[in-house]
Amino acid sequence: MKFYLTTAIDYVNGSPHLGHAYEKVLTDVIARFRRQMGDQVHFLTGVDEHGQKVQASARQRGIPPLQFCDEVSAEFRSLLPLLNISNDDFIRTTEERHQRVVRQVLQQLFDKGEIYRAEYKGFYSTRQEQFLQEKDRLPDGSWPELFGEVTEIAEANYFFKLRQYQDWLVEFLMKNENFIFPRNRQTQVLEFLKEPLNDLCISRPRERLEWGIPLPFDDGYVTYVWFDALLNYYSAVADRPGLWPATYHVIGKDILVPPHAVYWPIMLHAAGLPLPRGILAHGWWLQRGAKMSKSTGNVLNPLDFVTEFGADAFRYFLMREMNVGQDSDFTREQFLVRYNSELANNLGNLVNRTLNMTTRFAGGVLPAAGPAGDLERSLQELWVKTRDDFIPLCEGFQFHTALERAMVFLTETNAYIEQRAPWKLGKSTAAADQDLLRTALATMAEALRLAAALIQHVTPSSSVKINEVLGYSPGPVWRDELAWGGKLNGARVAASLVLFPRPQPPPKG
Ligand code: MSP
Repeated sequence: MKFYLTTAIDYVNGSPHLGHAYEKVLTDVIARFRRQMGDQVHFLTGVDEHGQKVQASARQRGIPPLQFCDEVSAEFRSLLPLLNISNDDFIRTTEERHQRVVRQVLQQLFDKGEIYRAEYKGFYSTRQEQFLQEKDRLPDGSWPELFGEVTEIAEANYFFKLRQYQDWLVEFLMKNENFIFPRNRQTQVLEFLKEPLNDLCISRPRERLEWGIPLPFDDGYVTYVWFDALLNYYSAVADRPGLWPATYHVIGKDILVPPHAVYWPIMLHAAGLPLPRGILAHGWWLQRGAKMSKSTGNVLNPLDFVTEFGADAFRYFLMREMNVGQDSDFTREQFLVRYNSELANNLGNLVNRTLNMTTRFAGGVLPAAGPAGDLERSLQELWVKTRDDFIPLCEGFQFHTALERAMVFLTETNAYIEQRAPWKLGKSTAAADQDLLRTALATMAEALRLAAALIQHVTPSSSVKINEVLGYSPGPVWRDELAWGGKLNGARVAASLVLFPRPQPPPKG
């Protein structure tokens, strides 16, 4: 099945932070999982380069906006390989392929009478690049902080007829209850739609904003940044038949209502284009309860963690800690707790023990299992249950629970080793003990192989390394790799591998 997956495109008015990194990782984990499940995945990410914020940041630096975008976009792009993101495409909204499609869609909507010109008089927030209404005021009559400087303006602009599609959208959402994940967000959209919609102002006069896509039917205006940005999902694949519509747009909850859940479906519908199958709205990473963002300055540089602990540990933490859709606090302490107990202890130790004991007791070659006892049978049963729960959990974006199950399996595998105590069996020459020793070595190696295969969409490099040290090359069909039994018989293992080294204490003084 085709699976076209997108992230939001990031504003390039500042450096990438943890929130941006999270969204890429989450989408990548979904993309890798769907590929494993046999889907034809197309994974798009990119940057949002037009608009007031970018123009202002470029001015501040005293350089032309495009040069500014080139620099910052390169920074966003360079983050992707460091996080092990497997995107198929990267779009910049300044690219010709994008601008062409935006202008085509605008012209088409204009020709169909979906866009009209009108005088506008009212209040405008430059920071949010939006027109304000009386209901946006605080009870004392002032404007909320988030709007920054608010000015009163009177000017002619172009408007997109949103309002006439309001009933259609409500009906669409009622019919497609799972359009937005998680469900409670869909309810929030329907709440929002209880109030009458205003038509959407999609133009900005050039004298106020130069940095945008000129309207094809009036050169005196550029396109409103959201109307431009949303179309990236379509423009990136417009000349690639069969890819549109998107399967999922992955975005943060702050940009669901109204842009993705209201403007976007209506824009597509008005343009006669099919709608995406769904929207996944994730929550926020917080620091001490506040949203991490450029404007508050409480941002965490994802690269610090990647440099210190590796991309897999970082990806694992983000997926294990965050219940997709909800918010989560990011602290170094909690990162270290999971790193130490789950990655270093559970997984790292199993790797060490498997390699050590195979080297010590079997000359580095994995034996075929002897007869299984109760301990092995119950571990195998746990495996089947773990795997069978894990897949639907990932299908439903419940990665944190899926990983928790995988960890339980690893904990039980380590407990199995304690109980079987191969080091004791290794001292005995009795045939039954030697049989059991072979069983124990084969069992722990097989459990390790399976766990590594199970979580490989979250920890791709570590899973590859584990296969390497087990002397194993996996086959092409992921599900086949998840069956217990025999695949490692006779494999020659490496002597050691330190997967998740203990962090060094910070230097004193
Ligand atoms: N440019 C728009 C999106 C246009 S999509 C057609 C934008 N850019 S952004 O840089 O502000 O945000 C990009 C994505 O990062 C959004 O989905 C946003 O929700 C996400 N995050 C930004 N800060 C975040 C956190 N602190 N936590 C998690 N994700 C958040 O909006």
